[in-house]
Amino acid sequence: MSTMSAIKQPGKSERPFAEREFPMTDKDFDRIKLLAKQRSGIELGEHKKEMIYSRIVRRIRALGMTDFSRYLQYLEENPNAELTNFINAITTNLTSFFRESHHFDFLRQTVFPELLQKKKGSHRIRIWSAGCSTGEEPYSIAMTLQDCLGRERWDARVLATDLDTNVLAHGRAGVYSKERIGNMDPQLVKKYFIGGSAQTAENEALEIRDTLKSLIKFNHLNLLGEWPMKGKFDVIFCRNVVIYFSKDTQRELFDRYASILEPNGYLFIGHSESLHGVSQRFESVGRTIYRKVK
Ligand SMILES: C[S@@+](CC[C@H](N)C(=O)[O-])C[C@H]1O[C@@H](n2cnc3c(N)ncnc32)[C@H](O)[C@@H]1O
Repeated sequence: MSTMSAIKQPGKSERPFAEREFPMTDKDFDRIKLLAKQRSGIELGEHKKEMIYSRIVRRIRALGMTDFSRYLQYLEENPNAELTNFINAITTNLTSFFRESHHFDFLRQTVFPELLQKKKGSHRIRIWSAGCSTGEEPYSIAMTLQDCLGRERWDARVLATDLDTNVLAHGRAGVYSKERIGNMDPQLVKKYFIGGSAQTAENEALEIRDTLKSLIKFNHLNLLGEWPMKGKFDVIFCRNVVIYFSKDTQRELFDRYASILEPNGYLFIGHSESLHGVSQRFESVGRTIYRKVK
């Protein structure tokens, strides 16, 4: 065996970032971290370096550039042209239909029956899916809501917002591969999806029916910025979004959620999130489910 072949050649991912084909220095990564925090609230730790490298390198290639410093300079000088692409590259959009299914059981068994009583006069229900990603969350809420409303006519809407423009486009289109529809109850699939637009089993896709789509409005919104909504919400879902935010950003955000919720309104958060030490305006009413108290 030759000496050369006995020595393990470093794989691409083991090579220092500053020595790769598209070099990224520590200073470049610090600039990326700062921009991410300022523009989205997302805090990028060292453990995210490899992931961020591979996502941003795609933008660098697309722009025909050769290193991160030049890209960051371009980004800072041309925010109108590049900031959206940068933001879309740094967000993490993992989601699924009926994720954390106990939340939807609670909606069906407790929240919606309560609202149908409480809102008998106005017939108005407003729900916000904040950080909705590709739409699986707001569509799961809307299916649950529609099932509870039955044939009764209500002024019921789900607002679905995200910072990432790509995921919003996916949500609006409402087309999902069979793989993503996965283990959903076949009755629900039959009721709320149409079609099969595909040639092969792998890429076969179904589309959400227009009646369900019409309950949802997908809007671009940065949770850190202004909120243009006028009315209050009965329910807010903000799940698996604040894990990337600092405690101070979380405090401010949950305070704003309390203010925009109706009295006794409900807040659903992600499985690894907690309001402990973050907000005293809610009481716990279930696993990662809260009710506004003040
Ligand atoms: C991991 S996904 C969670 C999706 C869904 N809520 C769920 O739990 O399945 C987090 C989403 O939050 C969005 N997000 C991150 N920072 C945001 C911000 N400052 N404003 C609005 N959305 C943000 C991301 O773009 C991403 O789509």
